[in-house]
Amino acid sequence: MKYHFKICYEMDMPLAIAVAVYLDAEHYIFLHKSLTASIEVLKKGLRYYKCHQTWNVFGITFGQTYICEYRAPATFINHHLRPHPEWLPSIHHVIKTKTMLRYYENPDSKTTLSELSVQLDIPFWLYPFRKIIEGVFRRIKILKDLEDVALVDRRAKLFGRFHNAVYLKKSQFLLHKDDYVKHFGENCEILNKSPAMFRKERWTDIRDLNFSYVKNFLKNDYVRFANFYPHQLASSQAELAAPLS
Ligand SMILES: [Fe+2]
Repeated sequence: MKYHFKICYEMDMPLAIAVAVYLDAEHYIFLHKSLTASIEVLKKGLRYYKCHQTWNVFGITFGQTYICEYRAPATFINHHLRPHPEWLPSIHHVIKTKTMLRYYENPDSKTTLSELSVQLDIPFWLYPFRKIIEGVFRRIKILKDLEDVALVDRRAKLFGRFHNAVYLKKSQFLLHKDDYVKHFGENCEILNKSPAMFRKERWTDIRDLNFSYVKNFLKNDYVRFANFYPHQLASSQAELAAPLS
């Protein structure tokens, strides 16, 4: 049985930063280590990757593979989610999942609207629990994004709110780097590409969402993710002064 829901909120960061953070594959295993133990690219295609992601629960390593598609400038589609190894019991054996994440920039506030659309194909005996399943998705998504918000706040203190030049450097690895540079490099016209209906939109900021785990994260974890030290400021200023290469 089909079940569809959306998770929408605003994040206080420019679109160019939000997209770069999403495409920065390395940060998943450092910043999001509570959610991801490893992530590996198994196959690269034209504007898509097949990824293998694992996490550890009670000493057991669970994993999944999925196709991660990028439609520039700011749409991300995940589909063909399968357990890995295939024999390990997994929710993917009984539920088919497809997600589409769209980011839009509000050019007035220079913030990002995040719209995650989730399509589930659930067996009838699990359908009564669809709201619980939705809640699990929502919690993981919001907590991951709160960690990103803290990271971006930290980067804004070090480099400035709009600074994405580090992501444009040749030495910086990003998934789909060519597409990112094309759309978010110098003199790009990304603001004109946001649909008109989203240009003045204001959604609830992720930090104001009324969930206990949001309040807990902001109270207990935000500082750990967002804090920085004076010597980092000095090295980041040196990095800002260095030529792009
Ligand atoms: Fe992230």
